[in-house]
Amino acid sequence: MVQIKEAAANDANLLCQLGAQTFEQAYGDVKDANDISAYIIQAFIATDIAHTISGKQATYFIAYFNNEAIGYTKLRTDRLHENLNPAQANLELERIYVCKEFWKQQVGAALMQHAIMFGKQNNFDVLWLGVWQQNHRAIAFYKKMGFEIIGTKKFYVGTEENDDYVMQVKL
Ligand SMILES: CC(C)(COP(=O)(O)OP(=O)(O)OC[C@H]1O[C@@H](n2cnc3c(N)ncnc32)[C@H](O)[C@@H]1OP(=O)(O)O)[C@@H](O)C(=O)NCCC(=O)NCCS
Repeated sequence: MVQIKEAAANDANLLCQLGAQTFEQAYGDVKDANDISAYIIQAFIATDIAHTISGKQATYFIAYFNNEAIGYTKLRTDRLHENLNPAQANLELERIYVCKEFWKQQVGAALMQHAIMFGKQNNFDVLWLGVWQQNHRAIAFYKKMGFEIIGTKKFYVGTEENDDYVMQVKL
């Protein structure tokens, strides 16, 4: 049975390790190893993650199976995209990652349902995200979860520029 718990600042080291591992599993076969390393080094810094949790700039949820962390989400509210209505309360799902050995076992769906519940409970109107246009697995997953494409944006992994879709679901 998968349990989902909100992360505390002292989970920062775990989030770094989980973040690096799942990012490598997601893109290791399709992206340049140097770009992946460069991204991981700047994206998963324990002191930064602890700081954003303590300061409530981000909310992380961790999925556990038999007390082992197997996936996580990161939610934030400090960014907007031009195709989002600024008059609405917009919640960004910046990350949703599941360990590869647990893909296609409804862990992502459980994490997503939890993010949607958190958004509703906190009176957000919309949950939105950016996804690499070549990440067909994730796009299929988001569509199944009710998201629709509302625009595009750029995203950088190391030196590589990627085209993302911006997707949203009404809460
Ligand atoms: C995308 C991701 C979070 C989905 O999580 P998951 O636990 O594998 O997905 P689930 O088992 O909960 O799937 C729920 C539904 O999504 C869809 N889906 C999931 N994986 C899919 C795939 N590979 N192809 C097509 N549809 C898929 C299916 O409709 C599925 O429902 P079903 O099982 O009834 O068919 C996971 O694959 C992952 O961590 N990928 C790597 C990281 C990543 O790309 N994150 C997104 C970055 S923007």
